[in-house]
Amino acid sequence: MWRVRPLASLRPLLAGRPGWPPARAASSTNISAFMPEAAAFAGVRDYPALKQLSLRQAERFWEALARARLSWISPFHTVSDCDLARGSIRWFEGGRLNVSVNCIDRHVHTSPDKVALIWERDEPGAEVKITYRHLLEVTCRVANTLKRQGVRKGDRVTIYMPASPIAVASMLACARIGAVHTVVFAGFSAEALADRIQDAQSETVITTNQAVRGGRIIELKKTVDQAVKMCPSVKRVLVAKRTENEVPMSNIDIPLEEEMMREEAVCDPVAMESEDLLFLLYTSGSTGKPKGMVHTQAGYLLYTSLTHRYVFDYRDGDVFGCVADIGWITGHSYVVYGPLCNGGTTVLFESTPVYPNPGRYWEMVERLKINQFYGAPTAIRLLLKYGDEWVKSHDRSSLKILGSVGEPINSEAWDWYYRVVGDGRCPVVDTWWQTETGGICIAPCPAERDAEIIPAMVMRPFFGIDPVLMDDQGRRLMGNNTAGSLCIAQPWPGMARTIYNDHDRFITTYFKPYPNHFFTGDGAYRSEKGYYRITGRLDDVINVSGHRLGTAEIEGAVNQHRVVAESAAIGCAHEIKGEASYVFIVLKDGVDMTEHVIREELKGIVSQKIAKYAVPDYIQIVKRLPKTRSGKIMRRVLRKIVERKLDELGDLTTLDDHTAIQEIVAGHKEMLKKEAKE
Ligand code: WT7
Repeated sequence: MWRVRPLASLRPLLAGRPGWPPARAASSTNISAFMPEAAAFAGVRDYPALKQLSLRQAERFWEALARARLSWISPFHTVSDCDLARGSIRWFEGGRLNVSVNCIDRHVHTSPDKVALIWERDEPGAEVKITYRHLLEVTCRVANTLKRQGVRKGDRVTIYMPASPIAVASMLACARIGAVHTVVFAGFSAEALADRIQDAQSETVITTNQAVRGGRIIELKKTVDQAVKMCPSVKRVLVAKRTENEVPMSNIDIPLEEEMMREEAVCDPVAMESEDLLFLLYTSGSTGKPKGMVHTQAGYLLYTSLTHRYVFDYRDGDVFGCVADIGWITGHSYVVYGPLCNGGTTVLFESTPVYPNPGRYWEMVERLKINQFYGAPTAIRLLLKYGDEWVKSHDRSSLKILGSVGEPINSEAWDWYYRVVGDGRCPVVDTWWQTETGGICIAPCPAERDAEIIPAMVMRPFFGIDPVLMDDQGRRLMGNNTAGSLCIAQPWPGMARTIYNDHDRFITTYFKPYPNHFFTGDGAYRSEKGYYRITGRLDDVINVSGHRLGTAEIEGAVNQHRVVAESAAIGCAHEIKGEASYVFIVLKDGVDMTEHVIREELKGIVSQKIAKYAVPDYIQIVKRLPKTRSGKIMRRVLRKIVERKLDELGDLTTLDDHTAIQEIVAGHKEMLKKEAKE
């Protein structure tokens, strides 16, 4: 199967398509009904004025919101102190607070029996509801266990667990005692886990005996055992029980539930400075080494709660269903911190979109009466193929808003989501953001009355976000109907503060390319009306099923195979995954293995070094790679070959050997032919 994702071709489709809502005359909004905090801004009467204020008087805007929305132990004295050139970003200094108190205790105070978490377990119909009171108890018990084990403020704790109440309680327990959590997606391999544990220098790992997904058991603890062998820093592994099965326990392993039950259900929260670390989350960049993005306390929490409230128009009593895993930033911001800070009810989804059948999401929406559903385009594209019946056989009348995140959503998927899933009555919010941005930056805001939404566009920036497009020369593109590198011109509270242990890389990656701007790594198009559409990554990062992967990471893995002399990985369009990885390999001399065996072994090595989702879909063995005379691989040329745009190979004057290209083109065709037969 080979189809090109219609990214570039989206533009003409956009004109005149049904959007949300149908055009209406603009009406004046009662701004304090929309945002009560706005009452403090004299003279601001409508939404556009509030938007303006959030940009032109950003400090005034964020000060009022931070005071109103967060519970402080002591108030801040400085709203913001940022110097983008030095990558120095500080918000709400002088203030002290505790994130777990903001996410739990204050809601226990007002509504202890309100449901905080709905754990949608793998087995449909077996959901577990956890109230705020209960969540506080569990969090305190985990916090006390961590303390008894010697975990102190500032220590890093690696969490390698699937979505579950105990995982959320572990994150919040860290926040309660001032430890820094670093959640590693439970799909990463032992080696990838070990790299992240070592980079963070974690002494503590929290995991489960096993995981359950799509009806299958996954030996999570075994993976942790392998990883820990490579990590001398690890002193203890806390093991929660997801299943009744026994797993081997060593002398550093501690059964979490048993220990917890011995602890008290109260634990004094530590007063944290606004800029103390809250968590690290690893994400891929252009090099082989993932970056530990650092988020801090107050700014992150404020930004996630505000975006959760307004982008999803989340109202008290709503059930919020974000199906992302807690191992990604989406899970941090919109399964855990945003919804809980707002006192909401949030779903923890443990299963897959097709288990036990492709109706799973919508059966869940019906059973849990989900009001906002937030998912990924890759899942929508997959479900669309199974037809409408799986959707229509379930009652989705509870749905109010549909969200999309992680990668560009093509217009076919957008349309199906809007028409079939949402019955044409729920706004679809395509939300653009990144691990680095902490929360949603560009998205429609349906809470705003009369807000226009055009299919497959991320539309408008959120409050306080000032997106700009730059050309190749680093000049700001002023007009509309233009495309360029997407940057953000002004700091906002949710942005990452540094890369753990590598502030230079932080500056080089995000602030050097366009001085005084945050560079996102994405390209974007701005329409006639000033609306945004994301066109994709500009760097060597690819996006497989909404998960970021560095092509250098893939190359690093395959290069470790003894037959590989060199390799080049690129992303290519994939019908379901959005992008798949395509790897070109040059073999060492005298290799006597069949191509089939080589391919299988290379797939194995990527799965072992990184994760299953990173396994390349295509591996093409070539005699040589197209290189410049100075020896740089010309990935651009490889991409054009795979996109079959041979007339767009561009400037080849620096190419050292033109026959390389002919060979690769022929080999590529051959491979596709073979595949079509299989
Ligand atoms: C990259 C960030 C944001 C949470 C999940 C991914 C791509 C994200 C969109 C969107 C087009 C998108 C970008 C971005 N991306 N959302 N709505 N439309 N592209 O977080 O792993 O940090 O990846 O995902 O390329 O840079 P992440």
